[in-house]
Amino acid sequence: MRTNAKMPSEEPEEHLLCMLRLQKGYISGKKLAKEIGISTSGISKRITILRQYGYNIESNHRMGYRLAGETDLPLPWELAKVLQTSFVGKDKIIYRQTTHSTQNLAILLAEKDPSLDGIVIIAEQQTNGRGRENRRWLSPKGGIWLSVVLRPRISASMITLLPFAGALAVCDAIKKTTLLDAKLRWPNDVTINGKKVAGILIDISMEGERINYAVIGIGINANVDSSSISSGLEKSIKVTSLSDELTHKTSTLGLTKMILERLEYYYIEMKHRVPHTIIEEWKQNSDIIHQKVALIQNNRTIQGIAADVNDDGSLLVRTDDCDNINVVASDIHVRY
Ligand code: BTN
Repeated sequence: MRTNAKMPSEEPEEHLLCMLRLQKGYISGKKLAKEIGISTSGISKRITILRQYGYNIESNHRMGYRLAGETDLPLPWELAKVLQTSFVGKDKIIYRQTTHSTQNLAILLAEKDPSLDGIVIIAEQQTNGRGRENRRWLSPKGGIWLSVVLRPRISASMITLLPFAGALAVCDAIKKTTLLDAKLRWPNDVTINGKKVAGILIDISMEGERINYAVIGIGINANVDSSSISSGLEKSIKVTSLSDELTHKTSTLGLTKMILERLEYYYIEMKHRVPHTIIEEWKQNSDIIHQKVALIQNNRTIQGIAADVNDDGSLLVRTDDCDNINVVASDIHVRY
């Protein structure tokens, strides 16, 4: 399958990057132009593109160009070198410097091409990022904003596990790459020190009992200033970012690789293991059991304690009036 997964005007940039890597020091624009078969102004244009992609290329009017630093962006050709998955993102990654929403783009592609399975759409920033419950999701540069198209051949009732598998993958990837103590919060948020650092959004297309496709959207406040994103959220939601918690930047390339690998792992687990095991693992990584919660529906608020997560993913809440309520994520807003 061919997507625009490679660089925009493919060959010359790749070739150019390869030449810069081979040459340990400076190489003249003239030599590069001759080797690649384009003009020196063509070289200069492509150097600008590579710089926009985060490569640190120094230039000197006498000596030419030198690759002084690699990019940390999760670019398709960089991920392709390191990604160890069998189908998620395997030769199928689309990268956009700016898009309205990777989720909407992924849905569009899934609708158009029924053969797409495992394709990943990544954006450096989103202008119209979507969160759960139709909330706005602020997505500036520095974050990880991606969506994955999946075609799970599972019974419709099992699809409620997909957000749990996705959240587990993100939580696990954050823990492994940053060593931060990430936790899961129902239904599918990832938190650090009680503050939201990542969210999962699932869109599903079904015909009767048959699942056409599912799009899993993942948003991680990686290297962003959390004060700049909290303005878009309701006041009760406390947010953080990985860089704020770490007090230094984290590798978005390394973290994206890990997320895609863990997502494939938990997706396969979800399809082949009994639901109980995914929920059990989710619970082990969560600290919401026994926490106070407020259930909000149609301006009505019920207070209670999160007692358990059932095998279908619903939350069991013991209300202050000693009722047991099973809460489904799509029905109700939960405040912690
Ligand atoms: C939430 O509300 O917690 C879920 C947020 C999901 C945001 C991600 S960012 C990538 C993808 N594209 C979107 O527009 N939304 C999801």
